[in-house]
Amino acid sequence: MSSALQGLLDLDQPSLYFSLATILFNPIFWNIAARSEYRHRAITRLAGGNSRHGCYALAVTIFSLGIFRDYLYKNAIEHQPQHPILAYGEVKVTAALFFIVGNVLVLSSMYALGVTGTYLGDYFGILMDERVTGFPFNVTDNPMYHGSTLVFLSTALWYGSPAGLLITAIVFIAYTVALRFEEPFTAMIYAQRDAHSKKE
Ligand SMILES: *[C@@H]1O[C@H](CO)[C@@H](O)[C@H](O)[C@H]1NC(C)=O
Repeated sequence: MSSALQGLLDLDQPSLYFSLATILFNPIFWNIAARSEYRHRAITRLAGGNSRHGCYALAVTIFSLGIFRDYLYKNAIEHQPQHPILAYGEVKVTAALFFIVGNVLVLSSMYALGVTGTYLGDYFGILMDERVTGFPFNVTDNPMYHGSTLVFLSTALWYGSPAGLLITAIVFIAYTVALRFEEPFTAMIYAQRDAHSKKE
């Protein structure tokens, strides 16, 4: 292995690739699932025709995949080298701060959106009455993704793990790509609803 990577990354650890696989898989999975719901009512049909039950089932699935992904991330970091530069106390304090801020963003946006708003309810035809603009949406447009990225970052810093930083960068890219797909789709669903309600 190239010596530049020595002490930073151990590319021979399978756990690194398992972690990356779930990070890439999860947003791809929920986008495909949500779009097949929107186009073919695939999940609602599986749920016996009840779209709300379908959305709850998808929520439980996405949530569980997230827990699995987090577990594999922790596991990957445990098998990777720590770097002394990241061992300073200030880094741990920063990590703790990011962990708190990240979780506040994730949990408060879930609270503001509710289960169906958080877990792609708009693809099921379960729309919010109006756009949520209060906290945490007045801090960032995508508190869920930014909060989640911060939690990944905080874990990498806490364990002084360059591999964790690399994985966090890939999380950020995966969410950025996911948003490119999700934002126009959501905007289109709401635009259709608004056009429809104006006619009535
Ligand atoms: C966001 O809204 C909350 C409460 O609704 C408020 O306390 C906070 O100051 C706002 N933040 C910004 C950056 O506007």
